[in-house]
Amino acid sequence: MAPIPKGGTVAVTGSAGFIGGWVVRRLLDKGYRVRACVRDVNDDSKCQFLKDMPGYASGRLTLHSANLDDEGCFDDIFAGCNGVAHVSHVSDYTDHEYVARVCGHMINSVNQSGSVNRVIVTSSIAAVISEMDLQELVRRPVLYEDRYPDESNPRRTADRQGYSMGKVIAQRAFSDAAEEAGTWDAITCCPADNVGPIQSAHQKNFGPWQHNIETMLLGEYYQNGVYRPWMTVDVRDDADCHIGLLESTRVKNGERYIAWSTDTPKVEDICASIDRLLPELGHDTPEVIDNHPDRIKAREEEFRAIWGQCDLRNDRIRAVTPVTFRPFDESLRDCVESLLSVAKVKPKLREGFSLPA
Ligand SMILES: NC(=O)c1ccc[n+]([C@@H]2O[C@H](COP(=O)([O-])OP(=O)(O)OC[C@H]3O[C@@H](n4cnc5c(N)ncnc54)[C@H](OP(=O)(O)O)[C@@H]3O)[C@@H](O)[C@H]2O)c1
Repeated sequence: MAPIPKGGTVAVTGSAGFIGGWVVRRLLDKGYRVRACVRDVNDDSKCQFLKDMPGYASGRLTLHSANLDDEGCFDDIFAGCNGVAHVSHVSDYTDHEYVARVCGHMINSVNQSGSVNRVIVTSSIAAVISEMDLQELVRRPVLYEDRYPDESNPRRTADRQGYSMGKVIAQRAFSDAAEEAGTWDAITCCPADNVGPIQSAHQKNFGPWQHNIETMLLGEYYQNGVYRPWMTVDVRDDADCHIGLLESTRVKNGERYIAWSTDTPKVEDICASIDRLLPELGHDTPEVIDNHPDRIKAREEEFRAIWGQCDLRNDRIRAVTPVTFRPFDESLRDCVESLLSVAKVKPKLREGFSLPA
């Protein structure tokens, strides 16, 4: 199927969110018309930053209330759109009948639109790497698009791996429906750990990565699960990946692409980097808190070695889109500065330092 036309109309679900908000801004910057879907357009604590975007004043950006759980609520929004970036979360990843049902709501609205020719489905690297048995990462250490978590592991159940499984269900539901319809493509984007500037104060509470950086600023932070390093992508580059996939002439229905820089910073190095990157701030770097049970702590070296031998690849997304990935230091610096300026976070500072009045 053809890519969306330059300057066409794109609906973005999850527009009030961290990633969705950047997809909206970058689409506007590139000259598109945008229908931003949020759950409540009247909730200004989440939507004011969208209303402050220049395209809103002219009407090139419009806001629409829609809840995925309500069948048919995207019918009118998608009618006349060329593309959809389906970025939003769903309400519950552990109930897979529900996940399939809300995918069906979106798919029906796409089919009914008569105009949408490409849908980007936002998945996650959890649908690539989440293993119940970490030895699977030793057996299959190359982390690329064709890799899925071991789906035959009996411990891969909805209560333990609902998010990873729900993302795979959504990917397949959209690809199958697009194949059947024959009029649109579904391309899946699997973002890694998003770091970068928040655009609205409420976004500091989500992520979880920007929230983790907030806790570092406040003087308390935690070791990452089973000592996994962060596998990062700047949120602005992630948005560009979504848009690049809408625009690409090189992608086909059913394909998926991982959005990550392939940087793998350790959580403790990230925290220490705040002071390295912003020495004027005087951040009082705290010690990492390791809440793992003793049996996991005893295997720290082994787990770190497993992550260390993983080979992260981003050659495919770079081959089909013009995206370049910025260095992590830039994402971290801009995330910290936005937490201070947008969300008014008050960091723990060393003696002799204070925030500007
Ligand atoms: N952040 C990451 O590092 C990361 C990594 C990998 C994948 N992802 C994926 O990227 C997507 C966006 O993540 P994010 O970090 O931007 O999340 P976020 O900031 O929490 O935003 C998610 C948005 O989803 C919307 N939403 C939730 N349930 C909904 C429903 N039932 N109907 C309609 N909208 C609903 C919310 O809308 P309202 O605010 O309007 O209520 C919210 O703004 C998700 O699909 C996530 O799985 C994120």
